Amino acid sequence: MNTTSHIAVFASGTGTTLQTLIDEQLQHGYHVALVVANRDCSALARAQNAHIPTLLSKDWTEIDQTLTQHDIQLVVLAGFLAIIPEWICHKWEERIINIHPSLLPKHGGKGMYGIRVQEAVLEAGDTTAGCTVHYVSAEVDGGSIIAQTTVPVLPNDTPDTLSQRVQQAEKLLLPRTIATILHNITQH
Ligand code: GRF
Repeated sequence: MNTTSHIAVFASGTGTTLQTLIDEQLQHGYHVALVVANRDCSALARAQNAHIPTLLSKDWTEIDQTLTQHDIQLVVLAGFLAIIPEWICHKWEERIINIHPSLLPKHGGKGMYGIRVQEAVLEAGDTTAGCTVHYVSAEVDGGSIIAQTTVPVLPNDTPDTLSQRVQQAEKLLLPRTIATILHNITQH
């Protein structure tokens, strides 16, 4: 039987990453079967427009049960601004991934999100920036690295221009990486 793997996307913000994952799902052979948000945000509206079931909750028992109900194989954090509790990290070990807008282990950890990351890249004088897909563990941005893409830092970059370049790279890297992970999961 040829079934399409179900993924859940967790988001807290504008949901541009979620939108990419929805737009790319057919081509990359996965199905966005659930969107979870911990606050009212545009990501929820995007999910509803695409007729994807949503859950607005901060109750991790409820979230865990809903993942199981929707037969979720992989959880993708896409701009999800909450710490995942340790018991969820263990129960869903190697089943939760995150995309971070830096070349981890550089410029990661608690409080490093959004424009702050590219500000830190420029302050450090780095000549390359990029994004990382990694497994989620109890340590913020500390799980093992799955894939990275580098982009150049240009002489006149501002945090905004650099952020746009990194986000373009993220939107290519994430759907491909999801497809690879799901392929590996279904081979086992
Ligand atoms: C992405 O840039 C990603 O690096 C980070 O959150 C951003 C997603 O925001 N984890 P959104 O998809 O536009 O809400």
